[in-house]
Amino acid sequence: MYGPIAHVLGARPNFVKAAPVIDALAADADQVTIHTGQHYDARMSEIFFDQLGLPEPDVNLGVGSGSHAAQTAALMVGLEREFLDRSPALAVVYGDVNSTIAAALVAAKLGVPVAHVEAGLRSFDMTMPEEVNRRLTDQLSDLCLVTSPEAVGHLAREGVAADRIHLVGNPMIDTLLRNLDRFDTAAVRAAHGLPDRYVLATVHRPANVDDPDTARALVRGLHQVAEQADLVIPLHPRGRAVLHAAGLDAHPSVRVLDPLGYLEFIAAVRGAAAVVTDSGGLQEETTILGVPCLTIRPNTERPITITHGTNRLVSVDELPSAARKALDAAPTTPRTPPLWDGKAGPRIAEVIRTHLFQ
Ligand code: UD1
Repeated sequence: MYGPIAHVLGARPNFVKAAPVIDALAADADQVTIHTGQHYDARMSEIFFDQLGLPEPDVNLGVGSGSHAAQTAALMVGLEREFLDRSPALAVVYGDVNSTIAAALVAAKLGVPVAHVEAGLRSFDMTMPEEVNRRLTDQLSDLCLVTSPEAVGHLAREGVAADRIHLVGNPMIDTLLRNLDRFDTAAVRAAHGLPDRYVLATVHRPANVDDPDTARALVRGLHQVAEQADLVIPLHPRGRAVLHAAGLDAHPSVRVLDPLGYLEFIAAVRGAAAVVTDSGGLQEETTILGVPCLTIRPNTERPITITHGTNRLVSVDELPSAARKALDAAPTTPRTPPLWDGKAGPRIAEVIRTHLFQ
């Protein structure tokens, strides 16, 4: 007798990746959705469930924010209780957030098999909490579900057996392609009074927004971009206080918004002349939408967005000139990375079915 497939979701990008997987398994699998509560504001969580048609979570652990140790410990205690109560046949974990590693660690200790969606990405930068989370999660996973070909090599070099690695494509892109008709750029422009030509920016990485001096330099760079085109910033709560103190919204061409729902956000990205970001997912979404993307990081775990897509890594100092080039450049048609075709969810479902039932 098999228990259910337990999907563990905690933070905003998890929701976008899980929707097509849960949907593809819905017809023939018993599933439970465990929301850890790592993200809890309605604009960071509930709106994604509503817009993406995700099932109401079976439980919300309400873990909330904290230091890495406090948050991860609380996640593990809550998840252990749930896994003991529900005896899942498989835990499906997504991406690289603290909920991901906490779930993998608890599942592995209880003997629950783990499937990791978005396995094998590597920034090779261990100062990023996400890199720690990814590496450890992959070591604990029975199924490493890979979005990008180079990740197969990373896993192989770390000793992951070939029969645990499955190149399945990118479920975040499934969600994007599935919702293309629902991204209403004109409506977002009207709702927020955006001009025809604007740059959209998102910043939330600890390395960019936690330290006040770094944040001040970032704000100076963003203001120089705002000299060239209006700058719209749906702001993640993490950076709010420090960036505000650094004067982010003091420039007349900067518009700081609350976090947007998925549909409004991607509509705003689609209508932008360029994107400035430190997000992981947005590097992938701009690749498919063909919007120039400047990533304010020294590295990326998603190099395929540079080789195939519109992404470029820039320092804060390079940002103004890179923005000028991006705004002046003729539009290009990016190459679609292999298997970013909208069918990753069904492929993942097939790998899971084969693992569980054959
Ligand atoms: C987390 C992930 C990061 C991911 C990001 C996507 C980890 C280690 N980091 O970062 O990889 O890119 O989610 O958004 O898991 N906060 C709120 N409301 C919320 C959630 C957070 O106000 O609903 C604020 C709190 O002040 C909190 C801070 O944001 O302390 C950080 O939240 P946390 O979940 O720890 O990390 P993120 O920066 O969101």
